[in-house]
Amino acid sequence: MSPTSPARLGFPITGLPREEVMRRALAMKADDADWQHGRTWSLVYRADDEHDALLKDVYQAYFAENALSATAFPSLRRMEADIVAMVLDLLGADPGRAGGTMASGGTESIFLAVKAHRDQAIAAGRPAQGLGMVLPTTAHPAFVKAGHVLGMEVHLVPVSNAFTADIDAMADAIGPGTILLGASAPCYPYGVVDPIAELGQLADDHSVGLHVDACLGGFFLSVLRRAGRPTPPFAFDVAGVTSVTTDLHKYGYGPKGTSTVLYADRALRRFQYFTQVGWPGGTLSSPTLLGTRPGGAIAAAWAAITHLGLDGYTDLFKRVMAITTQLQEGLLSIDGLALVGQPAMSVFAVGSSRHDVQWIADRLETEGWRIDRQQDPDCLHFIVNPGHDESVQPFVQSFRAAADLAPPPSGRSRPALYGQTATLRDEGDLDEQLLDLIDRQYDA
Ligand SMILES: Cc1ncc(COP(=O)(O)O)c(C=O)c1O
Repeated sequence: MSPTSPARLGFPITGLPREEVMRRALAMKADDADWQHGRTWSLVYRADDEHDALLKDVYQAYFAENALSATAFPSLRRMEADIVAMVLDLLGADPGRAGGTMASGGTESIFLAVKAHRDQAIAAGRPAQGLGMVLPTTAHPAFVKAGHVLGMEVHLVPVSNAFTADIDAMADAIGPGTILLGASAPCYPYGVVDPIAELGQLADDHSVGLHVDACLGGFFLSVLRRAGRPTPPFAFDVAGVTSVTTDLHKYGYGPKGTSTVLYADRALRRFQYFTQVGWPGGTLSSPTLLGTRPGGAIAAAWAAITHLGLDGYTDLFKRVMAITTQLQEGLLSIDGLALVGQPAMSVFAVGSSRHDVQWIADRLETEGWRIDRQQDPDCLHFIVNPGHDESVQPFVQSFRAAADLAPPPSGRSRPALYGQTATLRDEGDLDEQLLDLIDRQYDA
């Protein structure tokens, strides 16, 4: 090992007793974000303790089961089929025509939808080279990652002044290789919903697909709409929408590792599958990217929907919206603070004309709050859940106190890091810094 190589832990020869393993595992949490007391504004979506207890029990009951095999575990096949049917129903799909599958999360779901559109185009005789998609810049990087892996061209189109997809600019970006438009309901950065109806029309006019990333909003917006709250159309009630992704492990209040990818016409779903005939291990047929799939996660996601039902989700989301309103009113009462765009639900961003918001986030972090930072424009990001009800008041108080001390905006935003509640140094090659960061994640 060179003197600069990080020290690595050797493989343990003798295992530790159960109690010691448990002690060490829990001790490792000491520096983790405090989501239990509503001090973290992202990453964890949680209904309440009673709901979590049910999910853990059901997860444990299916802890060892493997959804790779629908014949060995018909229970999991049934649950997955039920989940897909229930979410399709929630999103207003035509039960005779639509179809979908589960997946491990938003990133895999979006990947599968992009793959399905690509492989359908190739099957229809389009050359594989030069196929592409057109996305607003606010689309989740999962689309760009999918394009990269699948060898597709990705055209990112600047958003309008409202921070939503700019229809004319998207139309201009459509070229001969375009097979898919992407949109969000809502987008992660600002919680705004793209004009899905207009994009559906555009997709129809050009005979291309339209994938709506409703990983965040699929449950939330559909449930609130059924409760009578005005919400923009975004799913299968819009002509031209060919696929929608909705995560169970976000506002579906399911366990981590669960999502759905849904198609208006189940004929498109077949193009997401993979088969390999004649492998010595036996001919393979696989619905998604993964092989082995966790029975516990699927069963607990099924339990979440079955337990909450429309009434349960409605109560939860009404509470979340009340907390969101309280938080927004508190923050917007601070001089200079403003929302970025018009958020449609409980995900939003605030920026400031008077304060360096990154400085404020740094300061709040020293008090145990964790806030995601964003760039272009500099702003802070919030995802609200029921557990935030007690933390809104102290948070707004701390925010106001920090704002009183904060310097004005520096005019030079530090590159923000998605999901890491942190920023990078604004110098050198940013891609290299990011790759180093991942190296350190595993080497340290
Ligand atoms: C709108 C949106 N799409 C996609 C994703 C990716 O989902 P995942 O992290 O489950 O892969 C996220 C994650 O927050 C998201 O907010």
